[in-house]
Amino acid sequence: MTDPIKGKHILLGVTGSIAAYKAADLAGKLMQAGAVVDTILTKDAAEFVTPLTFRSLTHRPVITNLFDVDSELAIEHVGLALRADIVLIAPATANVLAKLAFGIADDALTTTILATRAPILVAPAMDAHMYDHPTVQANLHTLRSRGVTIIGPAAGRLASGLVGMGRMVEPLTLVEYVRWNLGKHGDLHGKKVVISAGGTEEPLDPVRMLTNRSSGKQGYAVAEAARDRGAAVTLVTAPTALPDPIGVNVVHVMTAQQMHEAVVNAVHGVDVVVMAAAVADYRPASAADQKMKKGPSDSMSIDLVKNPDIIGSVNGPFIKVGFAAETQDLIANAKSKVISKNLHLIAANDVTATDAGFGVDTNRVILIDRAGRIEELPLLSKYEIGHRILDRVVALLKPGA
Ligand code: CTP
Repeated sequence: MTDPIKGKHILLGVTGSIAAYKAADLAGKLMQAGAVVDTILTKDAAEFVTPLTFRSLTHRPVITNLFDVDSELAIEHVGLALRADIVLIAPATANVLAKLAFGIADDALTTTILATRAPILVAPAMDAHMYDHPTVQANLHTLRSRGVTIIGPAAGRLASGLVGMGRMVEPLTLVEYVRWNLGKHGDLHGKKVVISAGGTEEPLDPVRMLTNRSSGKQGYAVAEAARDRGAAVTLVTAPTALPDPIGVNVVHVMTAQQMHEAVVNAVHGVDVVVMAAAVADYRPASAADQKMKKGPSDSMSIDLVKNPDIIGSVNGPFIKVGFAAETQDLIANAKSKVISKNLHLIAANDVTATDAGFGVDTNRVILIDRAGRIEELPLLSKYEIGHRILDRVVALLKPGA
């Protein structure tokens, strides 16, 4: 099981908004993720971007006109509607929203959409005043009530010069929505998963803290991978520079104690807990209310007290997965953590490598289970590592495993 986009048929509808130029980027990103992308441009969209742009990016014919006898795809547009695993209309104008709401089928896009039974995602883009108009809001309400997913629009500067609601959601985010929707019935469908991420921050005073080099990328990637297999995911995260993942319930914490409390609250009734956070083992015994001033002495020391072992202290009828960040004796140290923390599985990584571990988008981990069995994974993206860990979790969740 990997990226749910891979090999899927995505029908991309592009309508006549200035944001149509961003749809080209979107088509490229879907294609790079391994999708088969069929694009339908409305007549107005073709005023902003050319069919050739999409043809070049998707390596597929592009439909602009239902009655184009030279286009195989136009003729079999109903086949296209049936083949689609998902439909994404981005950007969607006020005009196409109205047509969809009322079932008007007067061009290739709206006709095809009436014929499809695939999930429909819509990313509106228009001027803020148009978006606010009661008619547009009523049409969006109608579409939502029929199960259409409306994504955005986002707030920001609009082509009209106004600042307000109306920008199309960014292509990268739209790709995440597609993943989430395509993965809904994956092998973790109906399962609840709690994942922790990031490096905890332990304050010394209002301006200083003890922390570590964790970027949060691996934990976030596990959360996205679990979401993309249909799990209901809670991500408990220490501060990171990363945006909240789409389709994930995110709980923001700062310290190890706060993370402990949040994880304890979140594990009730869950099936899986994955602790990818780098938790500070110790915290300053007390955090000063005011900025600490330097004193006359050439040295100073800080009293530290132990933090709770979070994964070690939560127990229940769920699968427990930990990470072991090591700089030496990787396997021996990881094996002893499996026992001391009562884990089902641990992902051990050597954090001294430059292409794996902290900060980068790739990782190299060794999976060790309770029986001491070792599986060495090659260098993979952190998202792919997330899937490999979850492959093992799915096996452990099977009755009798
Ligand atoms: N962990 C935890 N609570 C802590 C410390 C660690 O839940 N207070 C979890 C981490 O999220 C990880 C696993 O335990 O899943 C191992 O973390 P690691 O930092 O490698 O181990 P430590 O227990 O901190 O041991 P040491 O620092 O001595 O290597």
